[in-house]
Amino acid sequence: MIGVFDSGSGGLTVMRALEQALPMESFTYLGDHGNAPYGNRSPADIYDLTLRGIERLFGLGCPLVIIACNTAAATGLRQLQQTWLPHAYPQNRVIGVIVPMIEAITGMPWETNVAGLSPADADAGPALHVAVFATRHTVNTGAYVTEIAKRAPALRVSQQACPELARMIDEGASDDDIRPFVQGYVEELLAAHGVPDVCILGCTHYPLIEHLFRAALPSEVRLLTQGDVTATSLRRYLARHPRFSSTAPAATTYLTTGDPQHVSQVAGRFHGRIVQFQKVA
Ligand code: DGL
Repeated sequence: MIGVFDSGSGGLTVMRALEQALPMESFTYLGDHGNAPYGNRSPADIYDLTLRGIERLFGLGCPLVIIACNTAAATGLRQLQQTWLPHAYPQNRVIGVIVPMIEAITGMPWETNVAGLSPADADAGPALHVAVFATRHTVNTGAYVTEIAKRAPALRVSQQACPELARMIDEGASDDDIRPFVQGYVEELLAAHGVPDVCILGCTHYPLIEHLFRAALPSEVRLLTQGDVTATSLRRYLARHPRFSSTAPAATTYLTTGDPQHVSQVAGRFHGRIVQFQKVA
């Protein structure tokens, strides 16, 4: 069984893509709604909560966990992979949503194809300008800038914090209410950095308002969201590490640290179908 961890409901946009791309796999999704949103917490808090969520999923029989939250992955994934995991759970693995996105832009042709990019884009080198829209916390960590610099130092990266969006999406705000914020963030980015070639929606909440970003951005800009990219990356990961593939019949269990009734009510907006959450023990 594969674990999927998120601070709340945003990770359901990734979960939907994982279920579609890997219909034979079993998943357990854990949303830490009781402590969400993570974006307003201190880095130490986010790290501790993320570790606790991962340990819960390990304890439920998920030796591979995907952190489907940029805020959590940007804060502590590298650190926990390098320091905590090798000592505490040497057989287990934790992966995130940031590196698959960067691989899709900079790396292998088969991944760039899935993301809607051609291999020529990956070769574009210095000419390619990548812009990241994310929570303020993710932007402040600089995780995208650091990871892109490691893999493709010639790429130009700009970032734009969108501090209001995750909260408004959680609250079910209308397109009309959210549109001016998206337009404002896009205008800020364009004014400061010029028109990018590719934009990453670096928050798992943002696929719900992808159409607003699309409308606000110049039409030639390519827009990438994390669901398909993460699913492609996981499929390739499982081919390399078949021991993490499910042996149980395909099914997904949805767990929350919050109120399961309320969480189930809003989950459909993120996942695209009705899902029933249970309270985690
Ligand atoms: N969906 C989370 C992300 O991808 C943001 C929500 C939060 O701050 O908890 O960054």
